[in-house]
Order: sequence, then structure tokens, then C-alpha cells
Amino acid sequence: MNTMNTTATRDVAVEEQEQKTQPVEDPRPEQAELEEGKTVGVPYVDDPKFRLRDVEVFYGESRAIKKISLDIAKNEVIAFIGPSGCGKSTFLRCLNRMNDSIDICSVKGSLELDGDDIYNSKRDVVELRARVGMVFQKPNPFPKSIYDNVAYGPRIHGLANRKSDLDEIVENSLRKAGLWDEVKDRLDATATGMSGGQQQRLCIARAIAVSPEVVLMDEPCSALDPIATAKVEELIAELSESYTIVIVTHSMQQAARVSHRTAYFHLGHLVEVNDTNKVFTSPEHEMTESYITGRFG
Ligand SMILES: Nc1ncnc2c1ncn2[C@@H]1O[C@H](COP(=O)(O)OP(=O)(O)OP(=O)(O)O)[C@@H](O)[C@H]1O
Ligand SMILES: [Mg+2]
Repeated sequence: MNTMNTTATRDVAVEEQEQKTQPVEDPRPEQAELEEGKTVGVPYVDDPKFRLRDVEVFYGESRAIKKISLDIAKNEVIAFIGPSGCGKSTFLRCLNRMNDSIDICSVKGSLELDGDDIYNSKRDVVELRARVGMVFQKPNPFPKSIYDNVAYGPRIHGLANRKSDLDEIVENSLRKAGLWDEVKDRLDATATGMSGGQQQRLCIARAIAVSPEVVLMDEPCSALDPIATAKVEELIAELSESYTIVIVTHSMQQAARVSHRTAYFHLGHLVEVNDTNKVFTSPEHEMTESYITGRFG
């Protein structure tokens, strides 16, 4: 047996194998340069509901949002996507001043709702939040009856003078939230005894009971099963006929299903805003592409 030959053959085989398992070179840079305040795509629209310019948000010294400019159109569903910690919730909360409750948080820039400054010190924040409602990641019904949860906002805002008016608002809101048939016979039952999906739809009913113009949703389906998720998504499609909806989601399929435009955030920057179809089929920015193809996130 010729050992020299055997060794030579094995070396060739090992070499070939090594060549085969060499990682394929990815010509794209690991982290493209992000230019502050620069967003590719279509961030602006005519006659917007929200006009947001050079928005910066600080938690103490740390800047979580870096000069973001964006318009949000009337009756549009816009999805915010991006890796964890990139500032989606922080930016969303600026739209109805939910960040006000965080002591160390400060907001700079120009933020307008229908042409009026959201951060004007004379603005009535309770009225703002009635116009710009919010649905959170985790359903948070009050420990009250189903009826009282939905009636809460209309009561504090004095939207109904008579019991029959309030009944009508409660029924309409529950119908719009796709929950009426499931709960109409137990409106006095406590809301915390409902399933997670029902609780989330109840929170949506509660948010729309005060006839808001905008509904902000921060990962509204992350605690729901696929059936409850499908119901909430159907609801978003229906609501978009009368409301502006801003939804943060980690599910790209969900963004693709429910939104008209998608905004991609990265490390406090707004990298790209485009028609949802374009973002998911031919994104303009390489970082958007890296994210939607799962290279990071
Ligand atoms: N209350 C807070 N106090 C201090 N820093 C905060 C606070 N909330 C958020 N941050 C910081 O701001 C940055 C953006 O956070 P944010 O919650 O907006 O990200 P996100 O995109 O919503 O993330 P996720 O997808 O995980 O919800 C992060 O660095 C986070 O640590
Ligand atoms: Mg968040």
C-alpha cells in the first residue's frame, strides 16, 4: 500500500470539502452607514394627519430617537417594524404624549396633529388621548364589568347624557370590535374573566368607544393565538375605513397583511418608509432588506 498516495488523495478530498463548506461571501456590509435624519422611500404625504419633523426622544442623557421626520396620512394603516430596542414604542408613544408619564423622558422636534402642536403646553392631554387612543401589547381591562369597561371613556368625557345613549355606544363599540355576539348576554360579567383574545378586543372596543380619530397599537396581537389574531387583523381592516391606525408589530406577515405603508426603524433611526408591498418585495435600503430577509433582528 502506498501511504504517500493515500495521504495525497485524502488531502485533496479534505481540501475539496473545505472549499465546499467555505461560507459564501456576502457583499453587503454588516452595518450600512445610517445618516441622521435621512429616510429613504416615501415618508411624506399630502394633507397628513400627523406631521412629525426632526423628532428626538431622550431618556435622561440617552437619545432613543434620532431626528425622525414622518407624515402619517388620514385613514392609513402604517406599520412600524424593526429590531427590539430600536425605538418603535418610544416613537409611537410620542403621538399621544404617553411618554409624559416617564419622568426622565423628553421629546424635541415638531409634532403636529391636524396642524396643531401636540406638545403645546396649553394642550389638554386628556382630550388628546381621547382623539388618539391606544391599545397595548398586553390586554389591560379594568377589573370591572364588560359594560363598564367600554362605558368608562364615554362617561368621563360626558359623551352620553342618557342610559340609552350609553347602551348604544357600548353596543356599537363591541360590534365594531367583533365581540358583541360573544358577550351580549353577559355584559355584567367581569372583564378579567374573558379569554386573552376577548380581552384584547374589549380593549379595542374601549379605545374606540370615545370615537377617536387615531388608534395606536403596540404589538396588539403578541399575546394572542392565530384565531384571535385573525379577528384583530380583520378589525384593523374595518377600522381603517374611519380611523388612522399606527401598529407596531414584530410579525412581518402581519405588517404585510394589515398595513398600507411600513416604516423600518433601526437604532433610533427611521431608515425607510414605503408602500408595504414595496418594503417586502423590493426594499430600497440595504438595512431594510437585511431585516426582512432575517439577517438580523
Ligand atoms: N422607560 C424607559 N427608560 C429608559 N430607557 C428606555 C425606556 N423605555 C425605552 N427605553 C430605551 O429606549 C430604547 C428604545 O426602546 P423601545 O421600547 O422604544 O424599543 P422598541 O423598538 O419598542 O423595542 P421592542 O421591539 O423590544 O418593544 C431602548 O434602548 C430602551 O432601552
Ligand atoms: Mg416596543
